[in-house]
Amino acid sequence: SWTMAAFKAQAIEKIRAQVGSGRVICGLSGGVDSSVAAVLIHEAIGEQLTCIFVDTGLMRAGEADEVVTLFRDHYNIPLVHVDAADLFLGKLAGVSDPEVKRKTIGATFIDVFDAEAKKIGGAGFLAQGTLYPDVIESVSFTGGPSVTIKSHHNVGGLPERMNLKLVEPLRELFKDEVRRLGVELGLPPAFIGRHPFPGPGLAIRIPGEITPEKLEILRKADTVYLEEIRNAGLYDAIWQAFAVLLPVRTVGVMGDGRSYDYACALRAVTSVDGMTADYYPFPHEFLGRVATRIINEVRGINRVTYDITSKPPGTIEWE
Ligand code: XMP
Repeated sequence: SWTMAAFKAQAIEKIRAQVGSGRVICGLSGGVDSSVAAVLIHEAIGEQLTCIFVDTGLMRAGEADEVVTLFRDHYNIPLVHVDAADLFLGKLAGVSDPEVKRKTIGATFIDVFDAEAKKIGGAGFLAQGTLYPDVIESVSFTGGPSVTIKSHHNVGGLPERMNLKLVEPLRELFKDEVRRLGVELGLPPAFIGRHPFPGPGLAIRIPGEITPEKLEILRKADTVYLEEIRNAGLYDAIWQAFAVLLPVRTVGVMGDGRSYDYACALRAVTSVDGMTADYYPFPHEFLGRVATRIINEVRGINRVTYDITSKPPGTIEWE
């Protein structure tokens, strides 16, 4: 019978056969797919693998450190940590159109990754955590409608530009199978169960112009929200939950004074594959608790709303 242990053994053999004594580089995003791919490839070829983690400055609080610690310290996998926050924020200054944002981030990511990969030198292969649904989607799109709703941030185009061969050990797997493989490889369960996080990061959760100040405010609100979701035992029942910082200031009362600060929206959805989604029906009492905490603890926000839009017609992210 087919087990994950057998799949793992077979995948390791395949990777060794494909790569031989070559060098492989792997872009880590902090997500489950690229992480599982990296750990699997490391088991297969050890030090022939180098991971590159591009810190865009658009991640959630503490996230970059978690990724670096897990890979460098726990797995001892060679990891290049590129702190490119200033570069990304510089390129994004003054940009408020969602598609321009996405394209700017995608292009900057490719430039940074390419430059770092060249420094490593001698690599013949690029590893990616492509899953079966990704393979299917890109095939069915060729004959489908040509409307781009959102330009997805991925490393498409990189292999050709860098003249690298692709290593994609997860190509036959669905998401739940990747999670099981992750368990088999010893990745911490909390890491494997993490909600998806988009490549463009917090940039698409700040409609309008992105500034370091807005990123700081959003990180704080998001941290409070997710802490309450975990405390309520709801994290695993939800596909994705996050805060969005709205480009709107509203008037409020704070103590004896008047406040004029940003509004924030909370989003939480259930979904099977991200293609369709329903908003999560939190009890009002839970929402009230989160709103009170955010307004009391996060300077810069004085109003909290809950997004009850399903997908379609909405999308999960706001941009
Ligand atoms: P939407 O907003 O299109 O999101 O309903 C569907 C799912 O995709 C994630 N998402 C992305 N993931 N790069 C990614 O890796 C992206 O550019 C991107 N945009 C959206 C989103 O978080 C949700 O899980």
